[in-house]
Amino acid sequence: ADKSSLPHRPPVVTIMGHVDHGKTTLLDTLRSTSVAKGEAGGITQHIGAFSVPVPAISGDEKRTITFLDTPGHAAFSAMRARGASVTDIVVLVVAADDGIMPQTREVIELVQKEKDNVGLVVAVNKVDKPDVDIDRIEKMLLAENVQLERFGGDIPCVHVSGLTGQGLDSLVETINALAEMQDIRAEQKDVVQGYVLESKMQKGLGPVATVLLLRGSLTPGTHLICGTTQAKVRSLTSPSGESIKSVLPGFAAVVSGWKNSPTQVTKSSLPTKRISSVPSVTVSERLT
Ligand code: GTP
Ligand code: NA
Ligand code: MG
Repeated sequence: ADKSSLPHRPPVVTIMGHVDHGKTTLLDTLRSTSVAKGEAGGITQHIGAFSVPVPAISGDEKRTITFLDTPGHAAFSAMRARGASVTDIVVLVVAADDGIMPQTREVIELVQKEKDNVGLVVAVNKVDKPDVDIDRIEKMLLAENVQLERFGGDIPCVHVSGLTGQGLDSLVETINALAEMQDIRAEQKDVVQGYVLESKMQKGLGPVATVLLLRGSLTPGTHLICGTTQAKVRSLTSPSGESIKSVLPGFAAVVSGWKNSPTQVTKSSLPTKRISSVPSVTVSERLT
């Protein structure tokens, strides 16, 4: 089908990797850089989703990237699996002073399973540290069958420091280039689809869920179905808490109006008891 008339949507980029390899620090730096440039789009960290405007590769069309943070701790493998399945691109963060670790391998396997739908960028992080051997890390990646461009493969690898900000421009450029190749567009149909990334009870609002929208548009009054519960969207806020009127594909928003606790929703729709911030699939429909 010809997609060329459909509008682009922001790529969804999930940051993954072993515990303490620097995922959150990297995202914090990306966000504050963007804020420092007056390009606010900030989002609170605990929700783990935020959108930042970035310079486009070509033309003057402004581009946005929506980032999702994930935990690196061994216990959260269900969440990483969801993270890999809701996303367009995975940034695999590998600390240069630590190398390939168990959750690094886990992410490599997840991405290989999703390779028809998900692009991969490797970010060798903490390159500001003295005596790190980036060459060694890249050879370790190759040994794990991650075919970096440098070795004739097609997987880009950037060297970054979330602490100093070094290399982050080139990370963003690489993500943009990959997104452009994937030609990520919003399917504007009369169907609303997305994922619940996180859910909780919020004082004054009742059950709320952070929803990543992939199709259609979300406005107050939209009916959503998720697992065994549903919502008639009452209010929408950006993940950083500003009230908004609608949500477009590729953006995350906090949705209120759920009939039951979205925690129960999450619980019933996941093969895991670890419910607090585990994403769950939402299939939702706009009722007329
Ligand atoms: P989890 O979410 O627990 O998996 O960890 P994470 O991958 O989000 O790592 P986090 O950002 O929490 O960073 C872990 C530690 O590494 C912190 O002490 C950071 O200050 C440090 N760190 C992160 N990035 C860098 C970096 O680029 N250089 C240096 N020197 N330290 C860094
Ligand atoms: Na950490
Ligand atoms: Mg983190």
